[in-house]
Amino acid sequence: MTTATNTAQAARAKALEWINLGSKRLLIGGEWIGAASGKTFEVINPATEQLLCRVAEADSADVDAAVIAARRAFEAPSWAAMSPHARTRVLLKIADKIEQHIDELAAIESLDNGMPLWFAQGAVTAAVDIFRYYAGWCSKVLGTTVPSDGSTLIYTLREPLGVCGQIIPWNVPILMAAIKFANALCCGNTVILKPAELACLTSIRLAELIQETDLPPGVVNVLPGFGATAGAALAQHPGVDKIAFTGSTAIGKQIVRDATSNLKKVTLELGGKAPNVIFADADIERAVQTAVKTFCGNSGQVCSAGTRLFVQESIHDQVAERVAQVAATWKVGDPFAADTRLGPLISAKQRDRVWSYLGAGQDEGALLRAGGNAWTGPGYFVEPVVFHNVRNGMKIAQEEIFGPVLSIIPFKDEEDAVLQGNDTTYGLSAAVWTRNISRAHKVVRALKAGRLWINTFGESDPAMAFGGYKQSGWGREFGQESIEAYTQSKSIMVRL
Ligand code: NAI
Ligand code: MG
Repeated sequence: MTTATNTAQAARAKALEWINLGSKRLLIGGEWIGAASGKTFEVINPATEQLLCRVAEADSADVDAAVIAARRAFEAPSWAAMSPHARTRVLLKIADKIEQHIDELAAIESLDNGMPLWFAQGAVTAAVDIFRYYAGWCSKVLGTTVPSDGSTLIYTLREPLGVCGQIIPWNVPILMAAIKFANALCCGNTVILKPAELACLTSIRLAELIQETDLPPGVVNVLPGFGATAGAALAQHPGVDKIAFTGSTAIGKQIVRDATSNLKKVTLELGGKAPNVIFADADIERAVQTAVKTFCGNSGQVCSAGTRLFVQESIHDQVAERVAQVAATWKVGDPFAADTRLGPLISAKQRDRVWSYLGAGQDEGALLRAGGNAWTGPGYFVEPVVFHNVRNGMKIAQEEIFGPVLSIIPFKDEEDAVLQGNDTTYGLSAAVWTRNISRAHKVVRALKAGRLWINTFGESDPAMAFGGYKQSGWGREFGQESIEAYTQSKSIMVRL
């Protein structure tokens, strides 16, 4: 393994200093406290399989306490009557705090999740942009006036929902926490965040930084813990007004069932199996470089990853060869080494799950073009895996693998690309590569997904909505659309 640069080493040292400060606790009503049960759980570094620290393990008793705190904070004038401009200033201050701690937060994320430091730095920088973007929205959550005959005045108010439960996954935790917090806070809600048990440290550090701003206590609460206990208690709780969930489609369905207790509002950001379509007239080299980046980035643990690469028949073999060549340059290893492109997967379970698809692909007759070597030594590492001549009906092309595994699938023409691209239960993202501008726009219209790209893949902007068609979710995050997901409208008639 290549050694880390001095800057990376300094960042890691700073992160470890914070991690070693002692066991991490729950944030409820502005206080850091142990779990009511006294239980804690282990935080593991997936690159070394070693224990990083222990974290208090919330369960339903802590959820009850957090709901009371979040409700009190929601109704307190310090938050409810804070002017939108003051809220803007708080969100801007949070952005500044994150910006001042980019390297530390990124290194904590790398240690906890295993992602390369450069990738984590990108995620923390995106978190800064997200808070600044939503800071501007505080004063722009507008109601309307409704035309009338002049004897009445009819108008609407957009009001916050109340206490929002937010359950996030382990794949890019800092980004997930940032979008959930910023979105809810700009609309005047209070939040209870349940980070994933497999990577919760940056959520805790972010909440500490938020505590250093003027945000009233209890507006942000953080409950690390497991899904079946803390997560389910939050989803079922009658005192929670909304659940925003990001994670697997299976758990998303469970959240919906649990939310029926009080018919809380639900938004879901779930799995994906994105088609990335390359036509023969595309800029092939750019398309290939980006295709590798999207299936290998964060070791493929990305819901919008381009895991089904549809390639027009005439260039299928050429593209498969080039993809394998480029993928071979994506070095697997120490997340803190400058030349590392892929860190480990999050856990042994996830590694084994991904590994099982190697067998599944070969059993169904897909051709293995790259990868497949077992990793020796500690850490849950998996090298990029490329299958070609895949048929879209195969298991590897239908199921979300959440690892660096690509299926290259040939297609005939525009119609065939759309038909196969849409032949999936998911619909989160998609892309098309072509120099033909009419074809590009026709194909993105025909593909059923919530976020699409033409001649790029995976680029993001806080102003650009994100969310799923079909079983990839309910509702949208990012951009203006998510303001609606965190507010409700009230219409008022005045007889004049
Ligand atoms: P998961 O969906 O179980 O975990 C996501 C979050 O949900 C975590 O915070 C977890 O604690 C929580 N959770 C789990 N069960 C819950 C319940 N009954 N009620 C409330 N909250 C609950 O995902 P997991 O098991 O970590 O990963 C398994 C697979 O899910 C992955 O291989 C991947 O395919 C998919 N996944 C997809 C994600 C996406 O963003 N599309 C993110 C994470 C996982
Ligand atoms: Mg971890």
